[in-house]
Amino acid sequence: MKVLVTGGAGYIGSHTCVELLAAGHEVVVIDNLCNSKEMALQRVRQISGRPLAFVHADLRDAAALAALFREYAFDAVIHFAGLKAVGESVQVPLDYYHNNFIGSLTLCRVMLAAGLRTLVFSSSATVYGDPAALPIREDFPLSATNPYGRTKLFVEEMLRDLQRADDGWNIALLRYFNPAGAHSSGRIGEDPNGVPNNLMPFITQVAIGKQPELLVFGDDYDTPDGTGVRDYIHVVDLAQGHLAALERLMANPGLVTYNLGTGRGYSVLELIHAFERTCERSVPYRVVARRSGDIGLCYADPGLAHAELGWRARFDIEDMVRDSWRWQTCNPDGYT
Ligand code: NAD
Ligand code: WQD
Repeated sequence: MKVLVTGGAGYIGSHTCVELLAAGHEVVVIDNLCNSKEMALQRVRQISGRPLAFVHADLRDAAALAALFREYAFDAVIHFAGLKAVGESVQVPLDYYHNNFIGSLTLCRVMLAAGLRTLVFSSSATVYGDPAALPIREDFPLSATNPYGRTKLFVEEMLRDLQRADDGWNIALLRYFNPAGAHSSGRIGEDPNGVPNNLMPFITQVAIGKQPELLVFGDDYDTPDGTGVRDYIHVVDLAQGHLAALERLMANPGLVTYNLGTGRGYSVLELIHAFERTCERSVPYRVVARRSGDIGLCYADPGLAHAELGWRARFDIEDMVRDSWRWQTCNPDGYT
């Protein structure tokens, strides 16, 4: 297949490009590099030993996008491009609505004009808000607690409306839980700008001495050790979930929604201890107040993806901390 990957230079996109190329697909990436480096794509080519085309453009540039669709006869689009920092989305909501919503809308319009209606969309477990029960199933009520989450929810709603209006659209909404880890080569991984927001890159930056200590946001949640529990999923498992979803769309047209998680939650302290044990590095930490907007527990029921895609996560928490640490130590300053 010839696949357009929006946001393919980013963390999850670059790992998905590797899996697509390994499976023999042809890949074209469009990315404006607002949160990534072109070097990620050079490394994807090195890992795969295969070519990959790159177009440096913004998804909201309809003319650039249309030109791309004239140049290539794509079979499908995997759509990662977007902004993802929850705290920043509260500060600059219009940037988030403009990028994530208008970007997705522009993409769908151009796809329709080009006669392509097969799309895999990066959604998020954030669309479940604070879930009433666990593990979280795809049919749980949807809500959002911040502008970033609302952009994901609105795009999901737009895509459901679009597919209801025209059942020629084949759409997979993939709700990721907490991506972690890196490619086993240590060549590509998560390269956050400035101070990381997410737990795993923060842990590796403390361990390597770039951050003095980890602040644990609250130990008074209703969880076994009081710290927040999340369903961490290896980014390579996540990437393979996209290939499985694409195959499903090709064989069974329609709109599908899947949780991509492991089904197993780990607390902040469990993750710290797994890292310390596996990587033989200590992670100094201090418990502080809860982070505003955080929830206590979040983990998936990944059963539907297993039943319908034959997909399940293969990597465990030790793989995630080991691979994140390898990426951090091989690339102490990321791609720069
Ligand atoms: P990332 O920031 O590493 O990758 C996103 C990529 O999109 C970047 O390369 C960025 O430069 C590009 N981009 C952003 N806006 C663009 C635009 N208007 N035009 C072209 N390119 C643009 O993020 P990621 O972690 O790889 O996440 C990928 C997707 O998955 C995002 O949509 C994110 O919201 C979603 N997601 C991420 C997580 C997570 O924790 N990482 C969890 C759930 C969902
Ligand atoms: C995990 C746990 C924190 C940092 C976010 C987005 C979500 C999705 C994934 C995109 C929580 C604790 C964290 C730190 C800590 N992204 N923590 N100290 O909040 O589950 O999800 O990323 O869709 O939408 O909200 O992930 O990695 O930030 O936090 O104690 O320095 O680690 O409180 O319990 P989160 P996270």
